[in-house]
Amino acid sequence: MPSREAMIEQELLVTPRILTDRLTVKYGEKVAVKEVSLSFYQRKVAALIGPSGCGKSTYLRSLNRMNDFILNISIEGKVLLDGQDIYERKVDPVLVRRHIGMVFQKPNPFPKTIFENVAWGPKRAKFPKKDLPQLVEDSLKQAALWEEVKDRLNTSALGLSGGQQQRLCIARAIAMKPSVLLMDEPCSALDPIATSRIEDLIQELKEKFTIIMVTHNMQQAARVSDVTAFFLHGNLIEYGATKEFFTRPQKIETENYLTGKFG
Ligand SMILES: Nc1ncnc2c1ncn2[C@@H]1O[C@H](COP(=O)(O)OP(=O)(O)OP(=O)(O)O)[C@@H](O)[C@H]1O
Ligand SMILES: [Mg+2]
Repeated sequence: MPSREAMIEQELLVTPRILTDRLTVKYGEKVAVKEVSLSFYQRKVAALIGPSGCGKSTYLRSLNRMNDFILNISIEGKVLLDGQDIYERKVDPVLVRRHIGMVFQKPNPFPKTIFENVAWGPKRAKFPKKDLPQLVEDSLKQAALWEEVKDRLNTSALGLSGGQQQRLCIARAIAMKPSVLLMDEPCSALDPIATSRIEDLIQELKEKFTIIMVTHNMQQAARVSDVTAFFLHGNLIEYGATKEFFTRPQKIETENYLTGKFG
């Protein structure tokens, strides 16, 4: 008889962790995302690709209500996290962001110490103070940054390199123990070595989280993701297992994009 934990784990592999059901996002009259239905699973990395302006960031931000800060935006359809509609009136967006962390294109550490950057969210969420040093250490270890910063935790995060800052932002996001991690072009400001470290890190993190990543780098999508979604003019054109997606795309639009004929 499998343990309860093993059964829950098994269930999560076949039940979407997060999904959108005909999600439409408009800025005023302009439709940026059109009726997109997608499901994302535990222990899987999903890559969102498509030309500039096709709605990738808009879609990603709507998964943790980051779009709430934009005036004039309207959202139709549903986003379900573990079956709960995150746009329901009774749902607190701060709690949503606690469960669905986000890492942005440009590393954006706070002008605080390395320790404070990672401890900031857990402190606000009232995690017990005595647990913070361990939590900071664990998060920095998971983000593959601990060895480089363990002797300078109380120095400014702004003194780190770009690649280190991005790993710090990942540590900051995972310190909140989210179930889903959103990444919007997390490597686009990094050199190839730092990029490769983040890609390795994503492979490790997917053991614990559902990862949804926007990237313009097709090799990166092919290397790190399990599933790939192609967006064009706000529409989801194709979604499937990465290997087939890149070798045998089903739609002509996808093939044109992958072979550079788009334009
Ligand atoms: N705050 C905003 N107000 C109005 N329109 C916006 C806003 N943000 C994005 N848009 C528009 O919505 C569409 C989708 O933008 P989005 O940023 O989601 O694209 P993207 O696929 O992430 O592009 P990129 O690859 O360049 O980052 C674009 O036409 C863009 O101009
Ligand atoms: Mg974008």
